[in-house]
Amino acid sequence: MTTRVAVVGGGIIGLAVAWRCVQRGLDVTVFDASDEKATTVAAGMLAPAAEIHAGEEEVQRLLADSAGRWPQFAAELEKATGIEVGYRDEGTLLVALTDDDLREVRRLCGVYERAGQPVHELTARELREREPLLSPRVRGGAYAPQDHQVDPRRVLTALRTALKGRVVTEMVTDLAGVDADVTVVAAGVGTRALTGLPVRPVKGQTVRVTAPQPPLRHIIRGYARNRPVYLVPRRDGELVIGATEEERGFDTSITVGAVLDLLRPAAELLPEVVEYPVSEIAVGLRPGTPDNAPILGALKGDIADSGHGRILVASGHYRNGVLLTPLTADLVAELVTSGVSPQGITPFAPDREALWT
Ligand code: GLY
Repeated sequence: MTTRVAVVGGGIIGLAVAWRCVQRGLDVTVFDASDEKATTVAAGMLAPAAEIHAGEEEVQRLLADSAGRWPQFAAELEKATGIEVGYRDEGTLLVALTDDDLREVRRLCGVYERAGQPVHELTARELREREPLLSPRVRGGAYAPQDHQVDPRRVLTALRTALKGRVVTEMVTDLAGVDADVTVVAAGVGTRALTGLPVRPVKGQTVRVTAPQPPLRHIIRGYARNRPVYLVPRRDGELVIGATEEERGFDTSITVGAVLDLLRPAAELLPEVVEYPVSEIAVGLRPGTPDNAPILGALKGDIADSGHGRILVASGHYRNGVLLTPLTADLVAELVTSGVSPQGITPFAPDREALWT
């Protein structure tokens, strides 16, 4: 009999896992009742070294592996659905406004080098040759050619198209009520309520503006007077400016301070931004974990025993959900099919010590 798989959560992780499971011939239903997805707020930077901390080498290996899978994942999804997902490989400029900011860029370059990611220092002039609309006051920076991007909203639309008829609008509040051979919990910040796992919301506010012509080719990861900001250009002129990182529980209010914190450095680095209409201010809740690593694998304990079949978790991707999508989908689909944890997944198991100490 065909294995029946229930995926709880219709963000980019849940849908990608579901798609890979459908491709393996499984009978898949996605339960998705939430309009508030971190995926729809995310800018979609695919940057395997930029947002990790010391001691997170295991995660860094996952990020690099998944970044390598993105071109194929995007091409396959586009071919399956006819929907362009905005994969762009022009790379990222790290840009500093002041001498202090340049020190921060150089520190980040060191992180890239230790992670084996290419990065080349650039003078202010070289930066402006690449991006003429950057402020003449920028001090210097670097080029990270492997930091690419995808448009998460387009990816979501494409995945929903690929899963046509398999996504139902139904809220799951208790895993015991899900009738499936395997249930995959990919519920982002809703994971804690369903499983008891320590996934917490980390608030991120973003501003979207629309320029008449795309003002940039590269992503800008900038620092202006010690304030970090990123500017992610889409081909249609949209520019995503992000993002705050706030520990405020499930609060999703938009605050003046956050908008200032984003727009001030954005305007210092790219003065023309003040001319562009604001098209959207959005808030997302990233699913954070105590060790900043995702949670991938079989759930154990009372909640797992109360279900009809096996319960797996694919959650806690924190700042790297979009980047980690192709790898997560491949690993979890393999685990669903074989019942055996694929190589490399064990350090991210739901019962690992680092989640509970
Ligand atoms: N990865 C971008 C962010 O979390 O803001």
